[in-house]
Amino acid sequence: MSFLSADGVSHGYASRRSLLRHHPAPPVLEAVSLDIAQGETLGLLGRSGCGKSTLARLLTGLETPRQGTVRFQGKAISTLDKPGWQAFRRQVQMVFQDPQSAVNPRLTMADIISEPLIHLTDLPRAQHPARVAELLDAVGLAHRLARRYPFELSGGQLQRVCIARALAPRPSLIVLDEAVSNLDLHLQIQMLELFTALKRDVGVAFLFVTHDLRLVERFCSRVLVMGAGRLVEDRPVTSPLTLESPEGQALCQAVLPAFPAQMTALRERLTIESVS
Ligand SMILES: Nc1ncnc2c1ncn2[C@@H]1O[C@H](COP(=O)(O)OP(=O)(O)O)[C@@H](O)[C@H]1O
Ligand SMILES: [Mg+2]
Repeated sequence: MSFLSADGVSHGYASRRSLLRHHPAPPVLEAVSLDIAQGETLGLLGRSGCGKSTLARLLTGLETPRQGTVRFQGKAISTLDKPGWQAFRRQVQMVFQDPQSAVNPRLTMADIISEPLIHLTDLPRAQHPARVAELLDAVGLAHRLARRYPFELSGGQLQRVCIARALAPRPSLIVLDEAVSNLDLHLQIQMLELFTALKRDVGVAFLFVTHDLRLVERFCSRVLVMGAGRLVEDRPVTSPLTLESPEGQALCQAVLPAFPAQMTALRERLTIESVS
């Protein structure tokens, strides 16, 4: 059974104009179906604006599709009861592209990371500080940052806090929506190593949403390619990654910022680790 799936999901956003004139808004997603298996690392590739973030928000229950069904462990999320919804929220975590808009500016880092511990786990309050410290270690941040507020941190530090928050309730699937794209390269490597260890040691699954096919090549075992609201390709990841759809080919040819040799070596290192 798939862990998380979408079945014929369509979505659109009503513009003010179309609301006034009763025009249906043009679809942003059309009849998208996909399956994510337990422990899988799935890449979702597509150019900017093709609907990746919309699909990610539908899969995590942050938005409700106009048509179609999202299923968690075989059950439509729209039919989950309160304990079922709680389990879904704990097990499926998401990290957004922009950390500034993903945190409450009035909370400290410790409060931000503790939020899912309070709402989604039974961990006694007395044990939260130790868990926060452990999570800060995992994302390579100093413990003293626990008392800081969002405006006191750099974008890269804040994004790692968001990753720590997503890890806090020990999820089974993490949806990363361009979550490492804005980090500098050595931090990208550090986070990919952390995710690889979670995949290997705990069997965490990942949906890795990106426009950068090199990240998919280095981290994922299967890739879906999206073009304007539709999935156009579904294939295992090979090194080098070859894509056949016109949308995939365009991504292969896109000029992206150079990768240092360190990043090129990462896949080899990760592959060796996962074999040993
Ligand atoms: N909240 C929203 N309201 C209106 N339009 C939106 C909203 N979110 C996304 N869109 C539009 O939907 C399309 C797909 O956006 P998005 O899912 O963010 O794509 P991607 O993540 O691939 O860049 C874009 O045309 C975007 O402008
Ligand atoms: Mg996006």
